[in-house]
Amino acid sequence: MAIVVVTGTGTEVGKTVATAAVAAASLAQGLSVAVLKPAQTGVAEGEPGDAAEVARLAGEVTAVELARYPEPLAPATAAARSGRPPVTPQDIAEAAAKLSAVHDVVLVEGAGGLLVRYDEQGSTLADAAALMHAGVLLVASPALGTLNTTALTAEAMRSRGITCLGLILGRWSGAAGLAERCNLTDLPAVAGVPLLGALPEAAAARPPAEFRARAPQWLAPQLGGVWDAAAFVRAYGLPADRAAGGAAGGPGAAPAGVPDGVPAGGADGVPGVADAAPAGGADGAPAGFAGAPAEAAAPGVPDLPQAPVEQAASAVDAPAAGDPGVSQQPPVAG
Ligand SMILES: Nc1ncnc2c1ncn2[C@@H]1O[C@H](COP(=O)(O)OP(=O)(O)OP(=O)(O)O)[C@@H](O)[C@H]1O
Ligand SMILES: [Mg+2]
Repeated sequence: MAIVVVTGTGTEVGKTVATAAVAAASLAQGLSVAVLKPAQTGVAEGEPGDAAEVARLAGEVTAVELARYPEPLAPATAAARSGRPPVTPQDIAEAAAKLSAVHDVVLVEGAGGLLVRYDEQGSTLADAAALMHAGVLLVASPALGTLNTTALTAEAMRSRGITCLGLILGRWSGAAGLAERCNLTDLPAVAGVPLLGALPEAAAARPPAEFRARAPQWLAPQLGGVWDAAAFVRAYGLPADRAAGGAAGGPGAAPAGVPDGVPAGGADGVPGVADAAPAGGADGAPAGFAGAPAEAAAPGVPDLPQAPVEQAASAVDAPAAGDPGVSQQPPVAG
């Protein structure tokens, strides 16, 4: 039903782990999920690729690769060097359409960043996203150096008429420094899209059962989770005045008393939208970003299909209950 492309500001930013989290949150809502990795590079035959990693972490997903090239290079280059045919945007769109006919959610993970080439004509994941009219999730690092690549990627999408659904921070450290904390407001501002999630640093190392149980706490309601961007920014960001030295607790010290996964917009905030059509307003968008421009939250954020609220709520309640130490943590499971 819904085809969502997952790209990143570059390689190794956490696209696969973010894809797994979105898949897990969708599965927890009772939705069927397929993961499509159009071109897997840098992995030998027989070894698990990104789609398999998503299945390992998230559970029962249909994992599909269209092509595999052993050298760790951009798909076009790796394909040319391997002598095998490249994957074209048409191939990607066709495969995604087939999967979407029999799954509620199809997640398409690119290779590297948005404009990495897939074939000798210079086709990119952006071409595939445009062809599929798919929304794109942009996974970004929260660390120093991320603002430029995030802004450029968002601008490249806008200039092509591609909808960027929002940002996911691929790896958020509990010991976030000044740059990370400032970036919580600067990233959505430069990208012009909302923050839709933050994955804790050790997410991929967790046992799969725990990963699945926690995933909804790392993702905003638009992605089937209960993560509250505003609460997260309040917990980790800097005060609005941004005065040097004005950061309560100093870098890395999260204010106490912010409960894990704070479902302020949580169960109640899970929209009952059953398809990926644009919400047509700010209804489902995380509100209240300190310092983010009004337009960041203004565009309708197309939602993934949503299961009935009862299901979403139970998926959310489970991991938080009886989780030692979690209640004192900021709103991402540490
Ligand atoms: N939140 C996280 N917790 C733990 N490990 C992580 C996290 N995010 C990423 N990693 C690790 O960092 C590495 C790169 O992450 P990942 O594979 O998700 O990046 P990617 O953007 O998908 O890269 P590629 O461009 O190769 O597809 C992996 O070994 C992954 O397990
Ligand atoms: Mg990957």
